[in-house]
Order: sequence, then structure tokens, then C-alpha cells
Amino acid sequence: MSSSGHGMMLRSLSRDTSVKYQKLKPGTMRRIASFATPYKWWIVVFLVTVVLDAVLTVSMPLILRRLFDQGIAPGKRTVVVVLALLIGFIAILDAVVTTFGRWYSVRIGEGLIYDLRTQVFAHVQRQPIAFFVRSQTGALISRLNSDVIGAQQAFTGTLSNVVSNGVSLALVLSAMFYLSWQVTAVSLVIVPLFILPSKWIGKHLQRLTRLAMNLNAELSSAMAERFNVSGALLVALFGSEAREHEFFKSRARKVADTGIKTAMLNRYFINSLTLIASVATAITYGLGGSLVISKAITLGTLMALTALLGRLYGPLTALSNVRVEVMTALVSFERVFEILDLKPLISDRPSAREIPNVPGKVEFRNVSFTYPSAQEVSLASLESIAKPESMPTGPVLENISFVVEPGTMTALVGPSGAGKTTLATLLPRLYDVSSGEIMIDGVDVRDATLESLRNAVGMVMQDAHLFHDSILANLRYAKPDATIEEIAEACKAAQIWSLITSLPDGLGTVVGDRGHRLSGGEKQRIAIARLLLKAPSMIVLDEATAHLDSENEALVQEALKAALAKRTSVVIAHRLSTVREADQILVISDGRIAEQGVHEELLAAGGLYSDLYHRQFADR
Ligand SMILES: Nc1ncnc2c1ncn2[C@@H]1O[C@H](COP(=O)(O)OP(=O)(O)OP(=O)(O)O)[C@@H](O)[C@H]1O
Ligand SMILES: [Mg+2]
Repeated sequence: MSSSGHGMMLRSLSRDTSVKYQKLKPGTMRRIASFATPYKWWIVVFLVTVVLDAVLTVSMPLILRRLFDQGIAPGKRTVVVVLALLIGFIAILDAVVTTFGRWYSVRIGEGLIYDLRTQVFAHVQRQPIAFFVRSQTGALISRLNSDVIGAQQAFTGTLSNVVSNGVSLALVLSAMFYLSWQVTAVSLVIVPLFILPSKWIGKHLQRLTRLAMNLNAELSSAMAERFNVSGALLVALFGSEAREHEFFKSRARKVADTGIKTAMLNRYFINSLTLIASVATAITYGLGGSLVISKAITLGTLMALTALLGRLYGPLTALSNVRVEVMTALVSFERVFEILDLKPLISDRPSAREIPNVPGKVEFRNVSFTYPSAQEVSLASLESIAKPESMPTGPVLENISFVVEPGTMTALVGPSGAGKTTLATLLPRLYDVSSGEIMIDGVDVRDATLESLRNAVGMVMQDAHLFHDSILANLRYAKPDATIEEIAEACKAAQIWSLITSLPDGLGTVVGDRGHRLSGGEKQRIAIARLLLKAPSMIVLDEATAHLDSENEALVQEALKAALAKRTSVVIAHRLSTVREADQILVISDGRIAEQGVHEELLAAGGLYSDLYHRQFADR
């Protein structure tokens, strides 16, 4: 018997029927076909096994009929034995065929999941930072997973369902009509009785399924947001455990209630189907029995008819919902394609060339920048799960021009929100300028390959990220084949080696989630060591805003000296010592360069810099 059991039917019934009215983009079918092409022959073999299974299943009642009419009734023992053996043999053959078919369907399905997953991962990774700023990670991941799996089901689940149920239905119906059109006609009259409860229950199941999905999503995002160090800290500091618990309990209760309702609805459904099937069998026996008595049909025919009847209603109910099933699968495919079609805002130009990893001359020419809008970086269907946020539409940077000579350090200072971090992210092309250009040794960064650019330009962010892994693994992220000696050297230069050796597990110490095991200063020094291992010739550094004690400050200062020596650097300075050593200071205010010069000059000028200096640095 084919795999369209009650479970499959119920799953298909709980699907959202609104997809039926969704329009597919032109070309979707062709693209799906192109994904299927590598599996062409496997699909053919699989479909052959599906059809074979249907044929074997329908042939059993027909052999049963012979066994009755030509074996038992005339009392021929050999015929009985031979046909009984044949039935046994067919059962074995069917088992072999379905196992074989499963082997192929599983390989097609898993192969397809593999293809889609790896492509989607590679593609999402190429998206600009702006894309990730908008997307809510948990929701994005679950969307990608469920769509990929949904798309795979289009092939194995839906395809085999449609083919096997279609073929079974055709075979069963023709066999039944051949045996007795009267009995068949009567049993078809009952068909609406099957369709009606499945429509009714299907509607409720859809509602419950959607409710359960939303509730589960709420539960898991509540857990994901609270069961990490930052979230847990917030809950603990605000003493809101009881409130959180109540929230969680109320949602979990609803999930439980929904589960009970769904299970009972499923049971009603199965019971009503079984009940109607029994009624149908009773009618067939009643009608068929009197036909046998009046010698219109044989007893064997009646036995075959009742056996076939059991194989009629399953495929019928399954096929009644087939449009929803097929569309759900196609829409999943389409959503995967939608992601694959999202053009990364930042990518190599066709004419892009490699730039060398040498300390070059960095030049900003009339650079203006506005953060990209939602439409440019995200997808309509992802927006529903993106946290709604209103983006400032105005320019963040305007007409910025300056030159950083090779091997020198330029410090950026300015009030919070002035645009310093934004300015810094433009150099390694985390974002592209809106107008103007940024040149490295005369080459527009947009004409360089991203790989060579990111090799040459290193960046340490304000809040450096560390993976939840050992210190060693975090350092090797910059250079997977770094030897322990190289690592020790980088750590010594970054003034973090003595701390690492003092830890019981040394380099094997696991830093907590998002680096929470370490202090702010320690984290930045590890990030600097990581940068030293990567050895870029140009460095962008966003100093941690966290105030450090003077001992820590001295260590970070030493680390910075090592990092910046003989390199072209742009440092967003929050420390006086950094500013003092800069070859050039740019004061950024409201997205513009307000002042430019060296420390003494700017201090003497008595403008914004001297204000900032007195407020921010002088007391330290
Ligand atoms: N991804 C983003 N999308 C839209 N606007 C942003 C984004 N990131 C920052 N901004 C806005 O750009 C402006 C400049 O931010 P930026 O982070 O560059 O300031 P900053 O000078 O580094 O400040 P701080 O000294 O506090 O780090 C701010 O008004 C900020 O709200
Ligand atoms: Mg900043």
C-alpha cells in the first residue's frame, strides 16, 4: 500500500489553503526543473517504483477473486495453493519495490536539501551588513530552514503523493467498474461524505496549526533572547524573572491547549473516515451480497470489490487537497529563489582587480553617505519577520575629503552619533559611498576585489565580536594555519599573553557567549592580536568606548602601538593618548569635518576640538 496514510493526509489538510490563490512568478517552474535536472534519472526510477507499487497493490484483490472463484468454489487445491503463494510473492515484491523507491526518493530529497542549503548559505553570506542589520536572526534562520525543507517536499512528498494516488485511483476505479458497475456507482455516491468532513476539519486544523506555529515561534524567540548572557543579565538586573515566567507560562499553556485540540480533531477525523468506510463496506456487502445470490456477480468478485473499496477513499481524500499541497511546495521554492535572486549590494565589479597588501595612501574625495533603505537591502517577504524600524533617510556623512599618507595615523574624534563609525566602515566597503570616492593608492575601493581589499584593510570594531569558542580558535580565525609561536608573538604584542598564560586552560580557555568571559579591554586586546595575525597593511580601529582603568589603558596603548606601527591607520579615538600620537586629527560633527589638524594646533584654535578635549579627555 502506498505511503498515503492518515498522517500524510492530516498534514496535507492542515496546510494553509490561501496559497491556492497565490500567483507564481513566470519562470519558477523552469527553475525548479533546473534544480531537478541532476536527479532526472533518479526521479524516473522513483516514479516507476511508485507506479509499480500502485499496480501491485491493485492486483492483489484481483488475484483474490480468482482464488475464490476458480480455486475455493470449484474445490481445486492446487489453484488455491498457487494463487496463495502468488499473493505472498507479490507482497514480498511490493516490499522490495517500495524499499527501492524509498532509497531513491530519500537520495533525491536529501540531495535537493543539500543543494538548496549550501546555495542559500553562500548567498546570504554575501549579503551586505545592512541586510543583517534588518533581519532578526532567529526568524531568518527558521525561514530559510522551513522553506528549504518545504521545497524538498515538493519533490519527494508531493510528487509521489500525486503520482501514486492518481495512478491508484485510476486503477482501483477501472478495476471496480470492470467487476461491477452497480456496486462501484453506489460506492462513489458516498464520496462526498468523505470530502465534507475533511474540508471542515481541514479548516480548523489550518487555524490551529498556524496558531501553534506562531506560539512556538514566540516561545523560542523568548528563549533565544533571554538565554544568552546579555538577555539573562537584563532579566536579572531588572528582577523580572517572575514576569518572564508568567509570560512564558501563559504561552506554553496555549501551546498545550492547542496540542490537545489538534490531537482530538485528528482523532475525530480518523474516526469519521473509519466509520464512513465501514458504512460503505456494509453497503457493498449488502448490495453485492444480493447480486451474488441473484448470480449477477460471483463471491470472488464481491471479495475483490470490498478489498478494492478500502483503497479507493484514501487516494480520493488525498487528491481532493492536492492543489493546496502542490502550491505550498511551489511557494516554498519561490521563496528560496527570492532569496537567491537578492542581488548583494556590494560585490566585485567585473573589472575588479587585486590590490596589494601594502601600506597605501588613503584618500576620501567628497564622500557623502546615506544608509540604504529597507527596499534596497531586504526582501518584502523577509520584512514581515524583520523588526520594523524607521531608518533616518537623511545623509549621515556629507562632503568628507581627507588624505591619510602611507604609514601614518589619522584620528577621528567627535560627539556621539556624529558619524565616525559610519565613516570608518566605508573604507573596507562594509557599505558603499552614496557619492564621491575612496581611493587606496589611486584605486577606487569599488574597483578592487573584495577579497584583496579585506586582506589589505583590517578593522577592529567598537565592540569586538568573539565566537563562543576557545581563545585559540578565535585567534586562528584570522589565520587558520598560524603556529603557536606566531600566536604567542601576536598576543605578546597585543599585551594579552600574560593574561592568557595565567588562565588555567591557557589558549584553550573558552570565551563565553559573545566574549562575555572577558573584560572589555581584554576582549579588545584579543581582537587586536587577531588583527596582528591577519597582518593587514591598513587598519581601521574603533576604540572601545568603555572607560578603562589607567593600567588597562596603558596595556591597550602598547597593543595599539604594535598594531599601528608602519601601517596606514584610521583610528576612532576615545583616548587622549591615541589622539596625541596621531599625525592628523579630524573632528567630525554632524557628518562633516569640522576641524582638521594636530593636537596642539586644534587646542590652540579653541574650537570644537578644545571643547571636546576639555569635556572628554582633560579630566583623565
Ligand atoms: N545601520 C544603520 N542604519 C541607519 N542609520 C544608522 C545605522 N547605523 C548608524 N546609524 C545612524 O548614523 C548616525 C551616525 O552613527 P555612528 O555610529 O557613525 O556614530 P559615531 O560617531 O560612531 O558615534 P559613537 O561615538 O557613539 O560611536 C547616527 O545618527 C546613527 O543613528
Ligand atoms: Mg561609533
